[in-house]
Amino acid sequence: MFRVGLRKNVYFTRALVSPSCFKMGYSSQAARLEGKVALITGAARGIGKATASKFISNGAKVVLADIQHQLGQEVAKELGPNATFIACDVTKESDISNAVDFTVSKHNQLDIMYSNAGVACKTPASIVDLDLAVFDRVMNINVRGVLAGIKHASRVMIPRKTGSILCTASITGLMGGLAQHTYSLSKFAVIGIVKCLAAELCQHGIRVNCISPFAIPTAFVIEEMRQIYPGAEVEKLIEIIHGSGTLEGAHCEPNDIANAALYLASDDARYVSGHNLVVDGGFTSLKTLNFPAPDQVH
Ligand SMILES: NC(=O)c1ccc[n+]([C@@H]2O[C@H](COP(=O)([O-])OP(=O)(O)OC[C@H]3O[C@@H](n4cnc5c(N)ncnc54)[C@H](O)[C@@H]3O)[C@@H](O)[C@H]2O)c1
Repeated sequence: MFRVGLRKNVYFTRALVSPSCFKMGYSSQAARLEGKVALITGAARGIGKATASKFISNGAKVVLADIQHQLGQEVAKELGPNATFIACDVTKESDISNAVDFTVSKHNQLDIMYSNAGVACKTPASIVDLDLAVFDRVMNINVRGVLAGIKHASRVMIPRKTGSILCTASITGLMGGLAQHTYSLSKFAVIGIVKCLAAELCQHGIRVNCISPFAIPTAFVIEEMRQIYPGAEVEKLIEIIHGSGTLEGAHCEPNDIANAALYLASDDARYVSGHNLVVDGGFTSLKTLNFPAPDQVH
């Protein structure tokens, strides 16, 4: 028995550590996306940028798509020769179609589509004051943009019978009361999109998943917080965001989402589809009854 186990281990190690891993300077664990090509929307900063960097350090070639042209180009330069920037506004279907075609013409294939671009909504909290023009604008980016990304990625993935599609949802798409209705609804919709599209695309060998992050002090969250706490220092805003988490000893960071995306994009998740990977340190699992303390009840 012991000998059989040993042989198995030897085979396992050989299978994982291919000679090309050594050639490219990656460890077996690091090259989880070797030979893969990814397109990431909203990749000029925040979660998208962190994920682009993670994918590249794991052997992928990445096309970064964003509306911020200069920043996007600078970030692509910073990330090195395996990063390319393309201007893309996810509200324009032709831009998304063009970004997908550009990726395929440059790298011959598209293995991973990460529809990550999203915006916050700066509206009053009550339904009575709901601004439907803002609602349409946010849904256009956060929902229609995601759907258009999946549509055009599927167009090139279906003939190859393989692919991994990711979206960024949110914990605000799991529970009410965590954000303005418009933003929250847009993220509920993203989780729904993943279920609908995973159901169709599984027959083509394509996996569809999303990630629901906890609050992370990226640029758009800080901008939102500035409106609530005008005059507060950025450090204070970051402290407030971090302080709202529940997991002792850790804060949610873009790299935590990049790690989740790496898992879902890689063959480690080869049988995972239709899943919403919640990265919230247990926040949405926790609810207290707020009973008064025993010594307060007589
Ligand atoms: N930061 C958080 O706390 C948090 C939590 C849950 C979910 N999310 C989601 O994560 C995603 C990324 O957010 P982030 O925190 O990295 O924010 P971010 O503002 O740092 O990055 C968002 C990027 O999307 C780009 N973008 C905006 N509109 C676009 C459009 N029409 N077309 C193409 N690109 C566009 C921006 O230019 C920016 O580079 C969003 O979908 C957001 O809703 C963020």
